[in-house]
Amino acid sequence: MKITFTVNNENVEVDVKPNETLLDVLRDKLFLTGAKEGCGNGECGACTVIYNGRPVNSCLILAPEADGSVIETVEGLTKDNKLHPVQEAFVEANAFQCGYCTPGFIMSTKAMLEKIPNPTKEVIVERLAGNLCRCTGYTVILDAVKIAAQKMGGAK
Ligand code: FES
Ligand code: FES
Repeated sequence: MKITFTVNNENVEVDVKPNETLLDVLRDKLFLTGAKEGCGNGECGACTVIYNGRPVNSCLILAPEADGSVIETVEGLTKDNKLHPVQEAFVEANAFQCGYCTPGFIMSTKAMLEKIPNPTKEVIVERLAGNLCRCTGYTVILDAVKIAAQKMGGAK
């Protein structure tokens, strides 16, 4: 079946199978490989994209459900060769080691800061609880989120 949706401000039409996931479509059909497959069943957050304004695990969305949706992936954040403030913050805080989890954290952080510009540590921990990192120990990720909030005009 054919579905159409908007990804990173571009309209796309894709032929999908009923049992394919949105993550499969993004990676294998649109070659947007920023979203990663970690667990494949909703437990790690490596596949997080922003779907109709909310961060979701794209491995849990069947492709036909994405028909008519508006999706942002990490590839859409860099504009005119300039990193998004959340990306800059992760670089400044050295908030990654292997980097496998990073696109998911960045998309969850962006979605959070657009709704909650100045989150407390407790809110950050709660909102990013679905994103797992097996390398960093999370402290530098919390630092990155605080820097991102400042860059986006929230926390001072
Ligand atoms: S790959 Fe989707 S939550 Fe782990
Ligand atoms: S940096 Fe390796 S999993 Fe997070």
